[in-house]
Amino acid sequence: MAQLLDGKALAKQIQADCLTKVQSWQVRYGRAPGLAVLMVGDNPASAAYVRNKERACQQVGIASLGKHLPTESTQAEVAQEIAALNQNSDVDGILVQLPLPPHLDATALLNLIDPDKDVDGLHPTNLGRLVRGEAGLRSCTPAGIMRLLAAYGIDLAGKKAVVLGRSILVGKPMGLMLLGADATVVMAHSKSQSLAELTRSADILVAAVGIANFINAPMVKLGATVIDVGINRVTDSETGQSRLVGDVDFAAVEPVAGAITPVPGGVGPMTVAMLIENTMVSYCDRLQISR
Ligand code: GUN
Repeated sequence: MAQLLDGKALAKQIQADCLTKVQSWQVRYGRAPGLAVLMVGDNPASAAYVRNKERACQQVGIASLGKHLPTESTQAEVAQEIAALNQNSDVDGILVQLPLPPHLDATALLNLIDPDKDVDGLHPTNLGRLVRGEAGLRSCTPAGIMRLLAAYGIDLAGKKAVVLGRSILVGKPMGLMLLGADATVVMAHSKSQSLAELTRSADILVAAVGIANFINAPMVKLGATVIDVGINRVTDSETGQSRLVGDVDFAAVEPVAGAITPVPGGVGPMTVAMLIENTMVSYCDRLQISR
């Protein structure tokens, strides 16, 4: 039986610590940290993620200062909204929920976010800091995975880590963070040859491909740590009910793995916890107080 890496429980602990700090800061400094989630359009999955983030903020006392813009908003209108949030001194963190409607240039918009408020860690300045190994705001999903691995005492130094997926949101920063922790990192993707051979060589396997149950038992080394970033909605052919599954076939892989994250309750809650922490880091840095 693999050890279950319980992101939900760890996130709850982290958020309890955040609540205590936020309450004391509110009294001492006259305001709580503020997070603005900017959503454009009505992508139902995005709307659910945003609700999740806003609920978590509320639970720890962080102010939700988000904006919801209509699908047909122009590049200039979204840019103007970002500029206003950059200027707003009550806003410590800005997150532009992705994906944006296809007529918008997401990269150009992300580049407008003040790097000191970039709680998603997607601005070139923060990505550059990550490449250099300098302090900076880090992408929430890979940061959450690093925290989960640390909490369970999973050694990374000298181990082989295989990251499946090369997105700017997860795969690329994940590879860099694992490298920063002295793992030997392979970044694999849809064009990689002999994929099963690669994944089977991994001590740490991170699956971020967005394909339900993509990783099966023969793709996993006995005793490996398996991190499942996928959140895929599938319809059960027997019951007709829809449910969330990861990129890893949990039932098949769990007997082979040494440790594994569940979906839901693994990586997802850790992403939200890191978003809250990043907002607090940004607040402290902006107020020049210690964390
Ligand atoms: N869409 C899905 N996950 C994320 C995330 O972590 N950040 C942003 N900005 N958009 C997302």
